[in-house]
Amino acid sequence: MARAISLAPNANLSAVGSRTPEKAKRFAAENGFPETVKTYGSYEAVLDDPNVAQCTCRSPRPSTHGGRWRRRRRRSTLWTGACGMWMHHPRLHKMKELLSNPHLFGQLKSVHSIFTFLADSDYLENNIRVKPDLDGLGALGDIGWYCVRIILWAADYELPKTVTALPGAVLNKAGVILSCGASLLWEDGRLATLECSFLANLTMDVTVLGTKGTLHVNDFNIPFDETSASFKFATEDLPQEALMIKEFATLVGSIRDSSSKPDKKWPTITRKTQLVMDAVKLSVENGCAPVNVVN
Ligand SMILES: *[C@@H]1O[C@H](CO)[C@@H](O)[C@H](O)[C@H]1NC(C)=O
Ligand SMILES: *[C@@H]1O[C@H](CO)[C@@H](O)[C@H](O)[C@H]1NC(C)=O
Repeated sequence: MARAISLAPNANLSAVGSRTPEKAKRFAAENGFPETVKTYGSYEAVLDDPNVAQCTCRSPRPSTHGGRWRRRRRRSTLWTGACGMWMHHPRLHKMKELLSNPHLFGQLKSVHSIFTFLADSDYLENNIRVKPDLDGLGALGDIGWYCVRIILWAADYELPKTVTALPGAVLNKAGVILSCGASLLWEDGRLATLECSFLANLTMDVTVLGTKGTLHVNDFNIPFDETSASFKFATEDLPQEALMIKEFATLVGSIRDSSSKPDKKWPTITRKTQLVMDAVKLSVENGCAPVNVVN
């Protein structure tokens, strides 16, 4: 993110926040930030800085801080961004063009998405993503989020009718999901499956099946190569995370300068992604019973 902010032509890094001042200072030193970048030992302190309080980028991963962030957001005009950087890769627009072409792709039938990596024992013991009080949705919130989002993207953000967890979810002692799968079903019969896991070799696949065509991507959220193949459709020479920051800064700038209204697209699809993740978690907890998705 810090690299992306410095690469984006219309954004500057103002401050970094961490859970302790030492961690924030260490991060700033390791990344060679200029003196002007402030460091804070809590996320609240970042919000209280008048220079950054109007545009703050928060990870999409839900946490117990969520309630506090929401309360803050009502009081001020705090801007948060869900950091789905692959959504800003030009490749995604090209893929959408293909899926929208009735001659090449036909009707959407199903989507299958997998995001896994093999976490080491230190990660499985100590990472915030396995702690119920920090990032309590575990593998589902961390990497399953990407699967849910690419599925909704392929389905034009139409919510499925039901979500059903697949048997065999693995939870740690504290009840945090380390590995799970789910199926999503739409009223018209379209189907999607997802699998997310901290316990299997790195895989970032999505397969989208239409009546006439099939789309395969094996690095849908983080291109294996930042500069070559995955950029052959690109019109801009920036990595996807810098494109995300650029779009974010443009949105914030247009609201500040011309008082235009915030774009509804991002909050809407962020909410839908969360609704599906919540349904997967509920189905895991209810012995794989189907869960109706209600907007
Ligand atoms: C970023 O900092 C540079 C150098 O101080 C300044 O010229 C530029 O206007 C700043 N950009 C934004 C978006 O604040
Ligand atoms: C593990 O995953 C990586 C990335 O997907 C792949 O390049 C590698 O071949 C896989 N390892 C094996 C032994 O298949």
